This record gives sequence, structure tokens and C-alpha cells, in this order.
Amino acid sequence: MKTLRINESKKKSQINEDIYGQFAEHLGRCIYEGIYVGEDSDIPNKNGMRTDVVEALKDMGVPVLRWPGGCFADEYHWMEGVGPKAERTPMVNSLWGGMIENNHFGTHEFFELCEQLGCKTYVNGNMGSGTVQEMQDWVQYMTDTSESPMANLRRKNGREDPWRVNYFGIGNEMWGCGGNMLPEHYASEFRRYNNFVKDYDWMNFTSDTKIKRIASGPNRDDYKWTETVMEGITRTGNGRDEFGNFAAFLGGVPSGLALHYYAIPGDFTCRGDALDFDEEEYYATVSKAAWMEELIQKHGAIMDKHDPEKTIGLIVDEWGTWYDAQEGTNPLFLYQQNSIRDALAATLTFNIFNKHADRVHMANIAQMVNVLQAMVLTEGDQMIKTPTFHAFKMFKGHHNATLIESALEGIKQISDEDEDHFVNEIFESVSQAKDGSYTVTLTNVALKDSQSLEVAFDEFKPESVEATILTGAVDAHNTFDEPEVVTTIKFTDFEITEKGLKLTMPATSVVCLTVK
Ligand code: AHR
Repeated sequence: MKTLRINESKKKSQINEDIYGQFAEHLGRCIYEGIYVGEDSDIPNKNGMRTDVVEALKDMGVPVLRWPGGCFADEYHWMEGVGPKAERTPMVNSLWGGMIENNHFGTHEFFELCEQLGCKTYVNGNMGSGTVQEMQDWVQYMTDTSESPMANLRRKNGREDPWRVNYFGIGNEMWGCGGNMLPEHYASEFRRYNNFVKDYDWMNFTSDTKIKRIASGPNRDDYKWTETVMEGITRTGNGRDEFGNFAAFLGGVPSGLALHYYAIPGDFTCRGDALDFDEEEYYATVSKAAWMEELIQKHGAIMDKHDPEKTIGLIVDEWGTWYDAQEGTNPLFLYQQNSIRDALAATLTFNIFNKHADRVHMANIAQMVNVLQAMVLTEGDQMIKTPTFHAFKMFKGHHNATLIESALEGIKQISDEDEDHFVNEIFESVSQAKDGSYTVTLTNVALKDSQSLEVAFDEFKPESVEATILTGAVDAHNTFDEPEVVTTIKFTDFEITEKGLKLTMPATSVVCLTVK
């Protein structure tokens, strides 16, 4: 019998809700059309933000949003995106199709969106084509309460109060589109830029919280990058600061190192189709998604050497599935459909993130709307929720809950017929919320086999269980004509036992149990 053993007395780290974070870039139809349609649009909106999209995302839960990129951030000049819209300077979005970006969605609009979503903010600075001065000015513009030039410019542009910048990215993909840098060079540059990302709010005594700074981390398994950058950004020299933190440089302690990793079933020339895929491509996708476990372990082990107290989070601020863009769409708009396969890839990854809650402090799936593994897709005034949307919503019980020790017994590795791609058949994680209830999430990635499983607590005796399931054919998906093909329903195929419960979950399914 396969068993999920739960040792409820072994409480681990808190699962930071920011692990369920989002990413929105000026890319394709993510921002324009997908989120922002402008105040004068016929599509219902509040201050330019589409009401249908904002309402759906609020229901799903967005703890934190990263913006403006991605590679777009590496060439974004924030000054061009503030002030009266008619006077904003357009730019060329050189990486994503050479489109003319009118800069109508800028800093003020980003914070308006976050206010509507009720989420934390993660702003990514431009270290690629920008300057130290520009970055310093932006932070002053967003956060300063004094009579400084940038705070006054913000006031002139209609915003009296500063905003709260929870996270600030010091560069994006500095090994690639951010400047093609070597890790030694980036580590030094990080120290310099970070020095000028001032905590105005904190210096003005208007907040006791500092901005959490995120360093640009490795691509996939580039462990040398992690080693070199961690060494460079944590090296002391002047000893600890007044908080006992180990960073010696004036800019403050980095809070995170960003890892980027996408699960691509094929290769960069032929990534595979989002809906038309065979068994081999299916197992390639889920096994590549599951590689996240090894990446976290290995990057985490390097980080442990430099930061044994785990104050610096591994921030997986770009992850998800990446297929060929849908036929008939601009290939550089990265628009792809989303099926049960994506929900399985997402939830197995959530289970991995949860298990590493001590080191993974935030993650941002790419991307929130109309790009890559999106939560919602739009077409004109229509909007549909994807299977990935439902996956995120199902896992809400883990937000800020305490990770509980758990392990699967008796499970095996499965693969496609040719045995090219192996993956565990089930993924799981367990947490306990403040009200004492347990959230147990299970992903059965097996293409053909259902799973009978015993869920066994150590001593706890369940009195009630509420359960939901997301399942369907592996390529099942929602369309604008049939928007409810894939959705979460009540799960009843379980019985409460002395030790916990017994359940049977179908092939390619995700189950969430709330156990009291
Ligand atoms: O998410 C799409 C792109 O992927 C981002 O702009 C970039 O950072 C990454 O390479």
C-alpha cells in the first residue's frame, strides 16, 4: 500500500505565501490588453485595469507581483513612464517583437494594479542599460516622504504618499539579456548599485521595514554563478551592521538570489506544442518540472556555505512551462494555451517549493496573463481561467502555514515507454494553518494509473475532511467557447480511518484535502 506518512509533531518552516507569487512583464499581451486597457476602453475597467481580470486574480490570490520584467526591465527607463500619458516618451521593446511601447502603464499604474489586487510589490530595476543614478532616483520617487526632488516629482504627478516597495530586483538575468556579465563582475556591480538603493522610508522613520533586495541569480544549473555571486554579495569587510546582519556594504543585506528555470519539453528551436503532445513530451514536461527539486537542493547547498542561517532566500522569480507560441500569433509574444499538464507541472512544483520553505522565500510564475504559463487568457472583452489558475487557487491553504514533516512510502518512478524521462508518480506536501487544520496536497502525474493511498498521521485523529480535485484528460483545457471544461470540483473518493484517511485519486489529478 502506498502511504503518505505525516509526522505532525515535526513542524518546519513557515511557507511564505510569496511562493505563490506572480510575474507580469511588458511582453506580448500581458500588460496591454491582458491587464491594462486604459480608462477610455469599452472593456469594463477601474482606472484602466480590466475588472474581469483583476476580480479573477483576487479570487485566486496574488500575494506579490513582479514587474516590469524580465528582459524588458533591463532596458526600461522608468522616467519615460510617469507624468501625463500624452507626454510620455515611447520606446522600442527590442526583445519582444520590436513593438512600440507607449509607456502608458508605468510606475503609478503598477502600484494602482497592486492596490486593486491587494498584493505586495516587487519592482525589478534596470542594471542592463540603466545607471546607478537612475535606479537611485526611481527608489526615491517611489518611497521617499521628504521634500527630495524625486518625491516632489511624484507629488507633481499626482501621488502624495509614497508606495511600499516590498522587493527590489537589482538586475535581471545579468548573465544574459541583463548585460551578458561574468559572475565576478555582476557581484561587484550588485554591491555598487545596492549601495544606492536607499531605504528612504526607513531613514525618514516612516517605516521600520527595509526594501528586500534581490540579486540576479543563476540560470538553471549554473552553480558557478551561485557560488561566485553568493561569495561576492555576502563578503563582509566592515563586520556586521547594527542589526547583526552580516552585510558590510551600505546598501543593506540582500534578501534573495533569483533562480530562473523553465520546463521546456523540447529544445530552444522546437519547444513543443501546448496542446498537441505525445506521451514522451508529457513525461519530458513533468520530469523537467520536477528537476526543480535538484536545482533547489544544489543551489541551496552552495548558499548554505555563505548563508548558513538562510537569511537569503532562493527566489525562483521566473518558472513555469514554455512551449512554442500558438500558431498564428506573434512568436515573440509567447502566447500559449494551458492544459491539465500545466496544472500538474505547477502543483508538483508547488509541492517542491513548500518542502523547501526554509530556503525558497518567494517564487513568481511566468507570467500572469496571456504569456507563457498564464493564469488567465483574454481575447477582446472575453477572459478564461486556465487549469493553472485553478491549481493556484487550490493551494491557498498553504499560504503562510507551517510546513509539516511528511513523506511518501511505496511510490515508484514512472516514465514514457522508451524510458527517456523518469519522474516520481506522486508529489505531496503538508502544512498546518493557524486554526490547526492541515492542508494536504497531492499530485498524481501518472498518465494512466490511478493511485490508492493511505494518508497516515502519527497521532492526530481526523474528524472532518473537505476535499477538492482538479483532473481531466492530460490535454484538457478551457477555451473562449467552452470556459469551464477544466475546473475544480468536490472530491469524495476517500474515507476517514483511525489513522487518517484512504483515498483513490485518478490518473493525472491534483487533490487538496483540508483535514480537521
Ligand atoms: O519570461 C520571459 C523571459 O524569460 C523574461 O523576460 C526573461 O527574464 C526570461 O529569459
